[in-house]
Amino acid sequence: MIKNKGLILSMDVVEKQKAIMIAEETCDSVDAIKVGYPLVLGAGIGIIGELARYAPVIADFKVADIPNTNKLICEHVFKAGADSVISHGFPGRDSLSSCIETAEEFGKEVYVVAEMSHPGATDFFLPVAESIAEMAVECGAAGVVAPATRPDSLKRIRNIIGNELKIMSPGVGAQGGKASDAISSGADWIIVGRSIYKSQYPKKVAESIVAEIESVTR
Ligand code: C5P
Repeated sequence: MIKNKGLILSMDVVEKQKAIMIAEETCDSVDAIKVGYPLVLGAGIGIIGELARYAPVIADFKVADIPNTNKLICEHVFKAGADSVISHGFPGRDSLSSCIETAEEFGKEVYVVAEMSHPGATDFFLPVAESIAEMAVECGAAGVVAPATRPDSLKRIRNIIGNELKIMSPGVGAQGGKASDAISSGADWIIVGRSIYKSQYPKKVAESIVAEIESVTR
């Protein structure tokens, strides 16, 4: 995925028309649109192809199954038009490798959740985040997902993965993280959902986030 604006829109609305309307409004400010279960269950998998007309689509299914099931999920997602998929790492190396091998067959990418952004991530995720980040490098992932809500974690994970892998970072806005802090701490992209799609003026909010990102990258 090409880094330009540094912003990924998390499209967690559940209606097709609303998703298309917001994509139309915001596509000039985003490098990708991330879709997950809420929208795909609400609007059907065809929404991936519809949104791909506006920006590359990241399928955030946090794939977390045995290798064969992961392969079937990824095949479906890439055939639907997704540019990349988000996978979990905790099911193990063989499960992650299956996602990456499938992505390679389609010329697509896999991003691995290294650490989640919500408070409950401290219950189980934190102690394994670094090992998952190491595994993402070893298995050939395109990058990892790491939390804007914990800039220290972002810095640690950036140190582990080096500069070749990318970091996409959710948790800005509704979850309390700040775009400029996340970018300064090592994120390539920030992922923003509710602050944009729940706003009365999604285009303006997206533009102001891009301006904040630019204020620390230029
Ligand atoms: O609405 P908000 O900006 O909090 O949306 C964040 C998005 O990023 C949601 O789709 C959420 O599922 C996703 N996400 C996250 N933390 C992760 C991975 C993905 O918040 N570690």
